[in-house]
Amino acid sequence: MNRIIILLFCCFTLAACSPKEDSKEVKKSNQNYTMDTHSFAKPTESRIVHLDWEAELDFDKKIISGKASYLIESAKAAKEIVFDTRGLTIHKVSIQANESEELPAEFKLGEPNPHLGVPLIVNINRDVKKVNIYYTTSPDAAALQWLSAEQTAGKKQAFLFTQSQAILARSWVPTQDSPGIRFTYKAEVKAPKDMMVLMSAENPQEKSNTGIYKFEMKQAIPAYLLALSAGDLEFKSLGARSGVYAEPSMLEASAYEFAELEAMIDAAEALYGPYAWERYDLLVLPPSFPFGGMENPRLTFATPTIIAGDRSLTALVAHELAHSWSGNLVTNATWDDFWLNEGFTVYFERRIMESLYGKEYAAMLEVLGYQDLQHTLEDLSSSPEDTKLKLSLEGRDPDDGMTDIAYEKGYFFLRNLEEIVGRDKFDSFLKEYFQSNAFDVMTTEEFVVYLNEKLLNDEALQAQADIDAWIYGPGLPETNQSPRASRFEKVEEMLSAFLNEGALDTGMSANWSTHEWLHFLRKLPRELQPEQMKALDELCGFTSSGNSEILAAWFQLSIRNSYAPADAALDSFLVNVGRRKFLRPTYKALKENGKLEMAREIYARARPNYHSVSTNSMDELLGWN
Ligand code: BES
Ligand code: ZN
Repeated sequence: MNRIIILLFCCFTLAACSPKEDSKEVKKSNQNYTMDTHSFAKPTESRIVHLDWEAELDFDKKIISGKASYLIESAKAAKEIVFDTRGLTIHKVSIQANESEELPAEFKLGEPNPHLGVPLIVNINRDVKKVNIYYTTSPDAAALQWLSAEQTAGKKQAFLFTQSQAILARSWVPTQDSPGIRFTYKAEVKAPKDMMVLMSAENPQEKSNTGIYKFEMKQAIPAYLLALSAGDLEFKSLGARSGVYAEPSMLEASAYEFAELEAMIDAAEALYGPYAWERYDLLVLPPSFPFGGMENPRLTFATPTIIAGDRSLTALVAHELAHSWSGNLVTNATWDDFWLNEGFTVYFERRIMESLYGKEYAAMLEVLGYQDLQHTLEDLSSSPEDTKLKLSLEGRDPDDGMTDIAYEKGYFFLRNLEEIVGRDKFDSFLKEYFQSNAFDVMTTEEFVVYLNEKLLNDEALQAQADIDAWIYGPGLPETNQSPRASRFEKVEEMLSAFLNEGALDTGMSANWSTHEWLHFLRKLPRELQPEQMKALDELCGFTSSGNSEILAAWFQLSIRNSYAPADAALDSFLVNVGRRKFLRPTYKALKENGKLEMAREIYARARPNYHSVSTNSMDELLGWN
């Protein structure tokens, strides 16, 4: 079914203005809202523009008690404002027409929806400027992971972090949880005394002695970029406008790993214009963080599994940094347009890596990405709809659409455009795209119009670019060429020597990066002889590798070939690491190779360490209830 995009051009009058006020003071804003099927909010009627959040973190009960005060703008005739909530207990709602007087508001909770949660509908009239919501979260709030002290690296203090993307912000703050609705925020958070609290905002660099922290985010952001973390954290500066937060025992290793951060920011700016968010810091989370990274503005959240000791997995940082333009500045209007966030970001990430480490290096990332894409296309062969860049996720969990298609097909589409028009033209185009759409939303359809107007302004170019096939068609257009990386030629040589003659000359691999090893492991046949597995492990030391990417790729082979010497490492990896990208293929390999019982036994012990984002996917895979 074709989704109907409603572009509504609406005028808002500031609700507070009385009729006799000078018309110049009547603030008008023209903003178009695309219908977002994953939010109950009706922004064309009433919307939030600023949040003042007061909250207290209760680690014993695993709840946040909060007051969310919103400044709102509404159409003259608006009778209500609708918020998204999920699992929240709403104690009280009040409305204000001015600063001094707070009146009780009439409100109700609407029909619950399994993916979307529950709408909170608050009655308003044209005088209402502010809405205050007093609430508590539930102990199983989907965005939150509360870790006990034992689950942290230092084992001294408990830990909390949020993951709001895609639609989980509503489980810890009542909000209008749609990527097209932006607001600024201030916050005051109270935590146990010895903790440091951080948000996607201006952050402290030292612990306070009261446990109370104040935050401000001056640039307007959508709710999926709201973020919070608290625990035994310390800060170390990495440059004039960058630094890293981590648990004390992880701080030195983190600072070493991310030493090139400032250079990355410079490279990014040189490509596509000034960094708009002032500071860029990293927060290294405990290993249960379900993603590799999350681009929370001013403070990227990152998995510790990228700390390999040799700076070989920092493309992830380039990726999250790139989101400061693609995603955080120019934001996908709905989750159906997710590729506008991720495809652009992968393209930008690889350009940053190319600036820092050269073309050959970036080519390896591109080839590995292409391999991921081929796997995803195979996995999705029975649902070709999900292999289009423009998705239709109505009625589904947006998480279902967040596959490598958006990332890698999106990347190859942009790479293809670069090839057609040449790099100089493409770079100017992207720079202008970020500049002229900053702090705004973008739909796929608007992007196509923009692209045709600014870059592909003649029919021959348009025909060559084949936009329809790329964006609205399934799979990869046949014209797409598979990428090559010269550094992988050596890898393939060593591989054939091993497979044909049983030779493993580790002198050849002495200087390999993680990427070369990944290519090697991925290219090995799925079935190997026990002696081959043994030789590989003895000479290359896979089972004892401290590199999460290499381990995860090795477990694919050890599981398929029932290589028992890797079982203990596999067990400890699954129990300690909660990053979904590793869990899914590893548990899947166990399941597909007659080891479902083993998978379930490990899962029973590991599950308490995982965030809900990961358990949701794994419960389904392993038939857990
Ligand atoms: N924004 C994503 C993470 C995300 C996507 C969270 C969808 C929730 C829903 C982040 O920028 C990302 O893409 N992370 C990747 C790393 C990247 C190098 C591909 C990840 O976590 O693996
Ligand atoms: Zn991303």
